[in-house]
Amino acid sequence: MSGAFRLDRLLANMGYGSRKEVQQLVRSGLVTLDGAPVADADMRLKVEPELSSRMRVRGARLDPVPGMALMLHKPKGVTCSHKEAGTLVYDLLPSRWRAREPAISSVGRLDKETSGLLLLTDDGDLLHRIISPKRHVAKRYLATLARPLQGHEGAAFASGELMLEGEDKPLAPAVLEPLTPTTAWLTVTEGRYHQVRRMFAAVGNHVNELHRDRIGGLNLPGDLEPGTYRLMRDEDIAAVFT
Ligand code: URA
Repeated sequence: MSGAFRLDRLLANMGYGSRKEVQQLVRSGLVTLDGAPVADADMRLKVEPELSSRMRVRGARLDPVPGMALMLHKPKGVTCSHKEAGTLVYDLLPSRWRAREPAISSVGRLDKETSGLLLLTDDGDLLHRIISPKRHVAKRYLATLARPLQGHEGAAFASGELMLEGEDKPLAPAVLEPLTPTTAWLTVTEGRYHQVRRMFAAVGNHVNELHRDRIGGLNLPGDLEPGTYRLMRDEDIAAVFT
């Protein structure tokens, strides 16, 4: 979403209520811009990130405007889906954000039992650029295994010939970096269903724990606690593509 937008439409799209409810908020003086109440709900505004620091709604800073991206530390036990039983990653965000248009979606998915770095955005172009197979954006996982590594796994993963059960196209080469007999980093550039777990199954092992710590050149920040999120800055987005 770029360019100028009517204030009532913008705030309604950001989940602050229907356009009528937003108009009522404005009439009540509860929407301010640069410290002064906004007079007209139909004023046109340029939608840019700085608006969040200039506008207040009911005294609180405006949510991030459309065109936003988040990095979230996904805990285990939370599902990357808009509608499934149990806790969803979207439940970790403010409830108002569920009503946003365009909607916020996760960039690819992590399994329910996988933890770590998950990106979310309402910017469809950005989402597709990150998951596009042509971009080869690398994802790094820390896998904790049920059985010790045998020594042949790195070559199998790097071969570009490994087939996952039920598939007919081999996996692109991936990089294994063993840490201990039962823990290793695995860096992949594809995003196939349960890919890392199925890769270890293909070499006779089993993943007990899986954690993603890096997407492209963007690391999960050490101070981002499980279950919390942070707005991505332009440099964070750039890091994904380096
Ligand atoms: N591979 C998996 O098996 N699970 C994930 O969540 C991500 C990659």
